[in-house]
Amino acid sequence: MREQRSSQWYAGNDRNAYIHRAWMRRGLPQHAFDGRPHIAIANTASDLTPCNSHLNEVAKSVEQGVYEAGGIPMNLPVVSLGETLVRPTAMLWRNMAAMATEEMLRANPIDGVVLLGGCDKTIPSLLMAAASVDLPAVVVPGGPMLTGTFRGVPLGCGTDVWRLSEEVRAGTLSEDQFTRSESSMIRSRGHCNTMGTASTMALVSEALGAIIPGLAGTPAPDSRLLEGAHASGRLAVDLVAAGRRPSDIFTAASFVNAIVALAAIGGSTNAVVHLLAIAGRLGVPLALDDFDRIGSSVPLLVDLQPAGRFLMEDFHRAGGLLAVLREVKDLLDPSALTVTGLPLVDYLDDAAIWDPEVIRLRREPLQDAAGIAVLYGNLAPRGAIVKPAAASPELLEHRGRAVVFDSIEDMHARIDDPDLDVDPTSVLVLKGCGPKGYPGMPEVSNMPLPKKLLEQGVRDMVRICDGRMSGTAYGTVVLHVTPEAADGGPLALVENGDVIFLDIANRRLELEVDPDELAQRTPNAATVQGFANPARGWERLYVDHVLQADTGADLDFLIGSTGDRVSRESH
Ligand code: FES
Repeated sequence: MREQRSSQWYAGNDRNAYIHRAWMRRGLPQHAFDGRPHIAIANTASDLTPCNSHLNEVAKSVEQGVYEAGGIPMNLPVVSLGETLVRPTAMLWRNMAAMATEEMLRANPIDGVVLLGGCDKTIPSLLMAAASVDLPAVVVPGGPMLTGTFRGVPLGCGTDVWRLSEEVRAGTLSEDQFTRSESSMIRSRGHCNTMGTASTMALVSEALGAIIPGLAGTPAPDSRLLEGAHASGRLAVDLVAAGRRPSDIFTAASFVNAIVALAAIGGSTNAVVHLLAIAGRLGVPLALDDFDRIGSSVPLLVDLQPAGRFLMEDFHRAGGLLAVLREVKDLLDPSALTVTGLPLVDYLDDAAIWDPEVIRLRREPLQDAAGIAVLYGNLAPRGAIVKPAAASPELLEHRGRAVVFDSIEDMHARIDDPDLDVDPTSVLVLKGCGPKGYPGMPEVSNMPLPKKLLEQGVRDMVRICDGRMSGTAYGTVVLHVTPEAADGGPLALVENGDVIFLDIANRRLELEVDPDELAQRTPNAATVQGFANPARGWERLYVDHVLQADTGADLDFLIGSTGDRVSRESH
């Protein structure tokens, strides 16, 4: 049997090997330490991450697969981030979760890892960790929940919360009915069932090669998820034997496939910061412009909420990711491998679309060119992004007067003020929501529309922000404006009444204010310094070291990889 990394703890007859084995025995037989691979199951199950609360059951199937293939499974609970609960935003903790997982994998006698994630930040943080420790790794995505209904109508988890709450504000839905819908929103175990960030990151990770092809998108309660978990456990043992590592799999070619997939499924804009961060860990030279260059001309083939009609259960029934990728096979890089060792494109010939309403044929796309557009201009010198597929066609080119909010609190306090000087042509600007400014870059860019405009029937306006947007949200929202206001970005200088010009076709975002006048302006102190100035702890470390959205909002000292080196002995 080949020498394993874990053998550096367990092999031999000296005192230290004795200590390492003896404390681990607890029912394990002696041959568990004879050089067979030890596979960590990095498990983000948590009651406070309800989207992932079923992952302990999934872990059991992984364990069985590992044992069956001759490995030893090791359950490793890792930091879990529940999108709906964690404050001030789960994104503040993504890098911490990635760092903690990376370090615990490196510090322990582990030869390979199965990564169990689901809710928005969990798969990204696990992949960032796997990339930096570069141990053989495979992801098992926890899967979306089943479709719930309210008054006979399917509810899109997340998306319909925004829609129903806007209806209450517009006076077209009672608060009682709104509250009643609450028990229908989450029908089953699993993560959000729209094409939000969790679904997007699972599918994009499969396109990246991190998941057994065909598994992502399997609903959480579907028994095929457990079958896939079992197979992934087996595969982890094979990965160790083959010495196949993330650095072998996640190449520039893999990121091409991920970006094509992101566009074709109409995935969440959050995938941009996550893919950039993962690439940064691997040393793959991925840039913000690559999303536009590779993805913007890709047709939109999936009719899912938030921009479309259906939900993830429909998507899986209709053929899933492989059916989508088969339609755009010519755009994929055929050299990109998956965890199985085979190219992604090898899995496409058997794929089929079973419901062309949910997954469109290439010749009948929902939109011809639907990927993420990267905008530049004097308002976003290092870029901003917008998702044309989620925008209103009449707002793709728009000139309007700015209505400025200096913080999320300022926005909440004034957005429904009857005296707010706003009309449907206004451009809503929200500052102080970038990585440093909030801190943590929350999903607030899709700010609610003013109540008085909602009551007039207005359902979309141009909105501009240095934060992110929930993957379950929609609208003409320009986000990830870089540099952010709190990092010296010109967004800090925008004042009420300034004219802003958005031209998505030509990728422009301009503040039409005389440069001399701009040079005279000083932004308010809070916008420049951020709204939190933490004294200690992770937030202090984060604010001091976080990079901007255009490179993935990772910490500067976490970029790259230190591999799986074994540190010096602890005794
Ligand atoms: Fe967990 Fe949406 S809240 S995926």
